[in-house]
Amino acid sequence: MDRPVVVIGGTGRLGRLLLPRLHRSGRPARAVGRGGCQDPARLPGRSTAHTADVRDPDSLVAPLHGCGAVVFCVEPGTAESGPDSPEATMYEGVRNVLDVLAAAAAAPRFVLVSQILVTRRDHPMNAYGRLLDWRMRGEDAVRASGLPYTVVRPGWLTDVHDPGERVRLEQGDRGEGWVSRESVAEACVQSLRHPTAVGRTFELYNEPGPATTDWLLHFARLAADPVLTARAAL
Ligand SMILES: NC(=O)c1ccc[n+]([C@@H]2O[C@H](COP(=O)([O-])OP(=O)(O)OC[C@H]3O[C@@H](n4cnc5c(N)ncnc54)[C@H](OP(=O)(O)O)[C@@H]3O)[C@@H](O)[C@H]2O)c1
Repeated sequence: MDRPVVVIGGTGRLGRLLLPRLHRSGRPARAVGRGGCQDPARLPGRSTAHTADVRDPDSLVAPLHGCGAVVFCVEPGTAESGPDSPEATMYEGVRNVLDVLAAAAAAPRFVLVSQILVTRRDHPMNAYGRLLDWRMRGEDAVRASGLPYTVVRPGWLTDVHDPGERVRLEQGDRGEGWVSRESVAEACVQSLRHPTAVGRTFELYNEPGPATTDWLLHFARLAADPVLTARAAL
């Protein structure tokens, strides 16, 4: 039987779209959030809800035990410092998850949901607790982890398909645009499915056109990330 996919942030808007997709692809899922799940009876199939906080490594041990894959889609705080800062969630939180996995000698597939703009430090978004800097540090920790990872950097999230359903994958973090949570959820599941997505970081947008089905083709066009040592990511 497939080992479960742990969706950290699985009780949120993007996370809840991932669970039925994982169910349809035959993967059991564990939805993790600080507040647990409001309505566990509505979780699809073999999905279960778990209460944990990425800022508290001990709370992560049980939900991560025996997992085959992790999707990290936690919403950061925006405080300048302290527990509600991007540093605490986007950097230390990511590191806590990686440390718990390393301590268990586990090497699951890892998909990190980040965002566009992370390399553009002068953007006004960075005024919120240095959100962009800490996201980048979290990305680097994942890239240096030695795990088979994919970093997905969505554009601005929407719950409608106004910009179209086709996806456009870019690299280099130069663009800006919208993407639906549905498309991001699909990108995460497809990244878990295709080994070609391993070791890749890409931005994700929607554009006019029907929903994308040829994900393998899109992944195959991506350049692999430069290899990052653990020391460089500290
Ligand atoms: N909004 C945008 O335009 C945009 C653009 C690019 C990328 N993103 C990113 O896309 C991802 C999904 O966004 P969304 O709007 O769908 O998120 P969301 O609905 O706010 O869900 C966030 C999830 O994270 C969980 N969470 C928050 N803090 C946590 C913690 N310390 N430990 C464990 N779980 C925690 C929440 O559950 P609890 O509250 O119960 O803990 C919830 O399940 C986020 O990473 C977001 O930053 C957003």
